[in-house]
Amino acid sequence: VKQENIRNFSIIAHIDHGKSTLADRILELTGLLTDRDKKEQYLDRLELERERGITIKAQTVRIPYRARDGQDYILNLIDTPGHVDFSYEVSRSLAACDGALLVVDATQGVEAQTMANVYLALDHDLEIIPVLNKIDLPSADPLRIAEEIEEIVGLDCSDLSLVSAKTGEGVADLMEKIVHLTPAPRGKKDDPLKALIFDSWYDSYLGVMVLFRILDGSIQRGQEIMMFSNRKRFEVAKLGIFSPGPMDTDCLYTGEVGFLCAGIKDLKEARVGDTITNPARPADSPFPGFKRVQPMVFCGLYPVESEDYDGLKNALERLQLNDAALEFEAETSQALGFGFRCGFLGLLHMDVIQERLEREFQVSLIATAPSVVYKVHRVDGEVLEVDNPANLPPVQEIDEVREPYVRMEIHVPNEFVGNVLSLCEEKRGQQKDLRYLSSTRVIITYEIPFAEIVFDFFDRLKSVTKGYASLDYEVLDFRRADLVKMDILINQEPVDAMSVIVHREKAYHKGRSLALKLKRVIPRQLFEVIIQATIGNKVIARERTPPMRKNVTAKCYGGDITRKRKLLEKQKEGKRRMKKMGSVEIPQEAFLAALSSD
Ligand code: GTP
Repeated sequence: VKQENIRNFSIIAHIDHGKSTLADRILELTGLLTDRDKKEQYLDRLELERERGITIKAQTVRIPYRARDGQDYILNLIDTPGHVDFSYEVSRSLAACDGALLVVDATQGVEAQTMANVYLALDHDLEIIPVLNKIDLPSADPLRIAEEIEEIVGLDCSDLSLVSAKTGEGVADLMEKIVHLTPAPRGKKDDPLKALIFDSWYDSYLGVMVLFRILDGSIQRGQEIMMFSNRKRFEVAKLGIFSPGPMDTDCLYTGEVGFLCAGIKDLKEARVGDTITNPARPADSPFPGFKRVQPMVFCGLYPVESEDYDGLKNALERLQLNDAALEFEAETSQALGFGFRCGFLGLLHMDVIQERLEREFQVSLIATAPSVVYKVHRVDGEVLEVDNPANLPPVQEIDEVREPYVRMEIHVPNEFVGNVLSLCEEKRGQQKDLRYLSSTRVIITYEIPFAEIVFDFFDRLKSVTKGYASLDYEVLDFRRADLVKMDILINQEPVDAMSVIVHREKAYHKGRSLALKLKRVIPRQLFEVIIQATIGNKVIARERTPPMRKNVTAKCYGGDITRKRKLLEKQKEGKRRMKKMGSVEIPQEAFLAALSSD
C-alpha cells in the first residue's frame, strides 16, 4: 500500500455510547468479522472487561477497504482504553492516529468522558469526525445532541454522521468519511526509523508484544532496534499486523501500524509512550511526551488465610507481567500479618486488580483503606513521598504536608446540581465553573483533593444524582493542607491497618464514626474493650464495650459428645479467621466491616 492510502484512526466515546459495537460493525462490513466471531465483541477481550462493560487493554486491527472511488485503502483502527485511570494510554493511542471518530449516544448527549477524550484528541491535532450513534432508538434526539456537540465541543455538525451501530445504518457512509476526512500519515520513509509504542503486553509464548506506529522510516524482521528511553537493544524476531488475527510480515513502512516481538522479557523495557529506533542509524529525537506512569492510589492487600501469602505473591507477580503500572512490595501489619503494599493508577485499576486476584487466582483478600501519595516536607528540608499512613514522620519533624488535587468535571441534569454542589463542598472542593450545556444539563468544574474522591465519592455521586452524573478528572498539582494521621487504639494498642491520613477538620467525624462502627462489630469480650481514635496523643473519639457478665461458655457443656466435638472443631476453624486488634481478637467479617467505607 501507498502511504497516502493509509488511514490511522480511533473511536473515542463515553462509556456505553457504543464504541465496541461500532468497531464490530465496521469489521463486519469489511468482511473481517465472521458470524462465529460476532458472538463476542472482538475488541473487548478479557472476560472481566465484558462483565464490567469497560475496555481496559487496547486492541488494534488493520482493515483493508476498497472505497467508492475504486481505490484500496488500509484503515488501522486503533482501540483506546475506556477509563479515566488509563488516560496516558489513551493519549498515546491517539498520538498514533491522524483522525478520530467521536461517538456520541444520540439519546444521551455529551458526557464527561466525551469531553476528556476530545481534549486529548485536540492535543494531538486529530481530525475529529462527530458521529451520532443509536439513532434506531425512539428516544434519539439528533438535532438537540448535534447542537450540544457544536456548542460544547465546538465541532461543525452540518454534515453529522447519523448511525446505528446496532443495525448498521449509516456505517457504510461513515467508512467513506473516514477515508476522505482523515489525513494520510505524514512522515518520511527514508528517514531513520522512529516508531511510537502505544501498547505492549506480555504473551506467555512470545514474551513482550509491542504495538507501534511507524512515524518515519521502516522496520524489518531480523533487524536490531533500540528503545529511546533506556537505550536497550533487541532483535526483531517477529513482525506483523492484526487483521483481526495476527499475521506475520517481513517489513513495515512509514505510517503503518503493527506488532513486534524481540525477546523482550520485561514489560518495563517496552513501555507505552517510548520510541523505537534503529541503533545503526538512530533518529535524532524521540516522539515527545514519554512518561513513566506513576501509581496514584495505594492500599495494603492481605490474604485472608495466612497460608495464601505465597499464592498472593505469585498472583501479583503474574498480573504485573502484563501491567507495568501495577506496583507492590512486601509489608507486614501487626493486625493483618504478612501482605503487600500495592500501587494503582486509580480506583478502577485497584478494583480490577482486586477482583482478578480473587476471581482468577482464588485468593480472598483484605484491603486496607486506599490512600493517595502525599508530599511531606520535613523541617530538615527533605521531601518525602508518603503513600502509607504508617510512614508519616512524627508531627514535630513535619514542616508541611501537600496533597494531590484533581480538576474534576461533572456532567449532570440540572435538577441534581444542588446535590452535586453540596457533595463537592463537603469534600473540600473549590468550584471553578458551572455551565449550562443545554437548558436541562449542566457541567460543573471543581478543584478537589484527590483523597476525597478516593474514599467514597463515586458511590455518593451516583446516589445523589440517581446515577445520572458522569465524571472525569485529571491530576493537577500538590497543595498544602492541614493533614494529620489518625490512629485507632484498642485497649491502648494501635491497630496499624486502621491508621489513616485525614484532613484535621474531617478527623473528628471520621474518628467518631470509625470508633462507633468498631464498637458495633467487635463482639463483647470477657474484659472491657476501649476503642479510641487519636491524633498524636489527643483522643478525639472514645467508645466502650462492657465485659460479659455471665459465663456464656457454660452453655456449651452438657449434651452429647459428638456435638461437643463439632463445636470444638468449629471454634478451631473460627480461630483462624480471627484477626488481632491489640489484645482483642475479632472475627474477620468484623474487620472487613470496619475497613469498608460507608
Ligand atoms: P465501553 O466498552 O464500556 O467503552 O462501551 P462502548 O462505548 O464500547 O459501548 P458498547 O459498544 O459496549 O455499547 C453499549 C451498549 O449500547 C450495548 O448494550 C450495545 O448493545 C448498545 N448499543 C451500541 N450501539 C447501539 C445502537 O446503535 N443502537 C442501540 N439500540 N444500541 C446500541
